Amino acid sequence: MFKRYRSPEPPRAKQAPLIQTQPSPPPRRAPGPSAEDQGDVRRRRRLLDLRVTIHQRLLESLNLSAIEDAPEAELRQEIAAISRETLADIGVVVNAQEFETLIGALIDEVTGLGPLEPLLKDPTVTDILVNTHSQCFVERYGKLELTEVQFKDERHLMRVIDKIVSAVGRRVDESQPWVDARLKDGSRVNALVPPCAVDGPLLSIRKFSKQPYGIDKLLEFDAFSEDMALFLQAVVGTRLNVLVSGGTGSGKTTTLNALSSFISNAERIVTIEDTAELQLQQVHVGRMESRPPNIEGKGEVSQRDLLRNALRMRPDRIIVGEVRGGEVLDMLQAMNTGHDGSMTTIHANSPRDAIGRIENMVSMAGVDMPMKAVRAQIAAAIHVIVQVSRLADGTRRMVSIQEITGMEGDVVAMQEIFRFDRRTVAEDGRVIGDYVATGIRSAYADRFLQWGVALPQDLFAPGRRG
Ligand SMILES: Nc1ncnc2c1ncn2[C@@H]1O[C@H](COP(=O)(O)OP(=O)(O)OP(=O)(O)O)[C@@H](O)[C@H]1O
Ligand SMILES: [Mg+2]
Repeated sequence: MFKRYRSPEPPRAKQAPLIQTQPSPPPRRAPGPSAEDQGDVRRRRRLLDLRVTIHQRLLESLNLSAIEDAPEAELRQEIAAISRETLADIGVVVNAQEFETLIGALIDEVTGLGPLEPLLKDPTVTDILVNTHSQCFVERYGKLELTEVQFKDERHLMRVIDKIVSAVGRRVDESQPWVDARLKDGSRVNALVPPCAVDGPLLSIRKFSKQPYGIDKLLEFDAFSEDMALFLQAVVGTRLNVLVSGGTGSGKTTTLNALSSFISNAERIVTIEDTAELQLQQVHVGRMESRPPNIEGKGEVSQRDLLRNALRMRPDRIIVGEVRGGEVLDMLQAMNTGHDGSMTTIHANSPRDAIGRIENMVSMAGVDMPMKAVRAQIAAAIHVIVQVSRLADGTRRMVSIQEITGMEGDVVAMQEIFRFDRRTVAEDGRVIGDYVATGIRSAYADRFLQWGVALPQDLFAPGRRG
């Protein structure tokens, strides 16, 4: 972990400032492939193409339902024979070692999740999006690419989907045409099948990153500035409540996870998610995951149920992966009643929009509260909103950090402390800009001092680039 980023303790006797010096910022690199990565990527793609070709041939030749129980040695022999034939047919020569690697990969494909296996194993792929059996996109370095991966037919794709969902005790068919599931490695899966999927099954996989990006890595990617990191360290360390807002796939969960590294090890954290994605590094973490209703429509445990339960678990901090519905009201109440330092994310396109979304969620939770009272709750509960966004060039950036300062009449008042100023777009499509301080001094600057967090004197100076 980046050593400078450690949590401060609550105000006590005099304490040495945690942040004393400003070492030079780490070198920045946009999250794209380096030159040496590119050669690697090309080699991997070539191998992938070869695997896909042979796999296609295997699908035509093997009895798919019989191979589930086939002993591995037998399967290996069979696959080796078909592969030799295919390689001869297409005139490709591979050495013994490559051949072994290829066979191993093909076994995984046949016994695992079929044509998706190479994509699941490819660490540069972050999302896999299957649009019917004939088309599959992946996301690499923030950009979508069409792959050559195809399923033999709709039945083949359905078989893979069934394999995924039955492993977590669920079912997907005409009567229950969508399902959320998780792969063994933690990747998040959503499947939608006909009739709701009009042209054929749609499968979306958000790959689980074994090592989610921490503050260091995100700084290296220039996802935010060092000044913003210092500010957010102070915000989280002094137990302000934070809402991370962003569009789909904009990096909300990643940001939440990275921010959680500022929480001290002395605190008890409880996390609540629909699909457990957060990977907190602290010692004292209780993880909870909601449960959808079973096939008979019973046994649902919602995030809201878990949140209410969490309040009886003596948490120091509550972290909700993403608020989507009624749980938002309980979250606001928890934030307002002593569970300071709680954090969550919301799907919204701006901090102002995030407030509107919360208002909607509260009104849909079936609570009859005047709008002004709802807004007052929001204004009292949430201190800081962090807006993340995926820009046109595929980079994910923290585009704004705003504070809620209270109510002005009927409106929740906010002030922007940092923002990403877009300057232009380079010829290669890269978005060029700077992270700047807006010149507004944080409303919590005194609080930071009281808690012993020393920030650079001119952190909030107008136009300061971090
Ligand atoms: N700053 C970043 N630079 C590069 N990649 C990033 C960055 N932030 C997130 N990612 C990657 O982008 C993908 C989406 O991130 P994440 O899951 O955090 O988004 P999300 O907003 O929570 O998505 P969803 O709306 O689906 O929940 C992940 O694969 C993640 O590793
Ligand atoms: Mg998320």
